[in-house]
Amino acid sequence: MPAIVLIGAQWGDEGKGKATDLLADRIDYVVKFNGGNNAGHTVVIGDEKYALHLLPSGILTPGVTPVISNGVVIDLEVLFAELDALSSRGIDVSGLRVSANAHVITAYHRTLDKVTERFLGKRQIGTTGRGIGPAYADKINRVGIRIQDIFDEGILRQKVEAALEIKNHLLLKIYNRRAIVADDVVNDLLSYAERLRPLVADTALELNDALDAQKIVLFEGGQATMLDVDHGTYPFVTSSSATAGGASTGSGIGPNRIERVIAVIKAYTTRVGSGPFPTELFDDSGEFLRAKGFEFGTTTGRPRRCGWYDAPIARYTSRINGVTDFVLTKLDVLTGLDEIPVCVAYQVGDKRFDEMPVNQTDFHHAQPIYEMFPGWTEDITSARSFDDLPVNAQKYVRAIESMSGARFSAIGVGPARDAIIVLHDLV
Ligand code: GDP
Ligand code: IMO
Ligand code: MG
Repeated sequence: MPAIVLIGAQWGDEGKGKATDLLADRIDYVVKFNGGNNAGHTVVIGDEKYALHLLPSGILTPGVTPVISNGVVIDLEVLFAELDALSSRGIDVSGLRVSANAHVITAYHRTLDKVTERFLGKRQIGTTGRGIGPAYADKINRVGIRIQDIFDEGILRQKVEAALEIKNHLLLKIYNRRAIVADDVVNDLLSYAERLRPLVADTALELNDALDAQKIVLFEGGQATMLDVDHGTYPFVTSSSATAGGASTGSGIGPNRIERVIAVIKAYTTRVGSGPFPTELFDDSGEFLRAKGFEFGTTTGRPRRCGWYDAPIARYTSRINGVTDFVLTKLDVLTGLDEIPVCVAYQVGDKRFDEMPVNQTDFHHAQPIYEMFPGWTEDITSARSFDDLPVNAQKYVRAIESMSGARFSAIGVGPARDAIIVLHDLV
């Protein structure tokens, strides 16, 4: 089974890092194909806790070759800081490969991210402020800077100057900010050239060769389906393709290489930033999930918005990504609740929607229709087989599985590496 894609099913932070880590000892390559350092993956290995932003989580496992492919936007300062931090903790990062076609995030992208958010006022997206949107905008606008440009100073200078021409007018005249000096940007980027050079590769060629040689390649998505620029809750999304299809365009492997699509899904729902969220809770239950699930952003530290499991979203994710397997995470967080509501459909005015409404306005007004399930009180963190779970937990899992469009192949019962029940092998 050569190419496996692992993506987020909801609005991010489902535990993709932990799921990747679970598979990492059976894979040869791990590829980050979208997003940048807006991601935040926490992986707990023994007493050690790692927070990864730009590097794929599989980098923590010895023998796995990590790849940052063309679909990613790279902040070079963050890249090297993260590599140094991992090295100092004894992780071997020497095998990292970086696509020559990946785009870079520069100082002006970070500045524009922040000023445009401020300008939007109450219509703001609540971005991570890392320059992700402006870097992707430049890519689509064909004024982006690619990794390979850093090795040709003349080209780099021309491209930075071209990119800054309009932006400086905007910064000065619209946003009332200082202009950005092209030389400063160029010198900053050039300062990474020598360290970057040995990492840069034709990653599409390497990945295709690896697949030809029957190596196992895991494509680890950042963000999630509902944050995908095409399929998410636009405009409250990130600016990349976080769905399974993004693994193909974002890395240069054909879609027919992908044999398995694993979606990581929480036993409830969270969201960071603005945008519609039908099952969001504003009462003590929301506080319960936030506190017990430690729902605070890995990247920005913001409290995550919390709500119940949303089955129409699970089915939507299943369709959009062609999900073959779900990894259900954080079931342990629900322990101690009397009753657990699950959203089975939406009510919009006098109309019932059993599936995600295609019209965004309907989704903004969607009221969840809940079915109630009895809770359990037993600690489940040491459960390692399905039978170890209390009967009500088993019933909850089977019920939401039957509504979600694909089988549940693993169930997370705690943050630790081994706190997982495997129902079907994923690799
Ligand atoms: P990612 O962005 O999808 O990789 O997820 P994050 O790392 O941002 O957030 C998931 C959080 O949940 C991390 O702190 C994980 O350590 C934690 N986690 C993952 N799986 C489980 C689980 O099954 N139970 C509990 N309690 N925590 C989990
Ligand atoms: P992981 O990979 C949760 C959200 C931001 C904001 C929107 C756009 O850890 O699941 P951006 O900076 O990308 O332009 O912000 O997307 N967002 C995430 N939310 N988890 C993430 O990543 C996210 N990456 C971006 O909060 O609402
Ligand atoms: Mg995260």
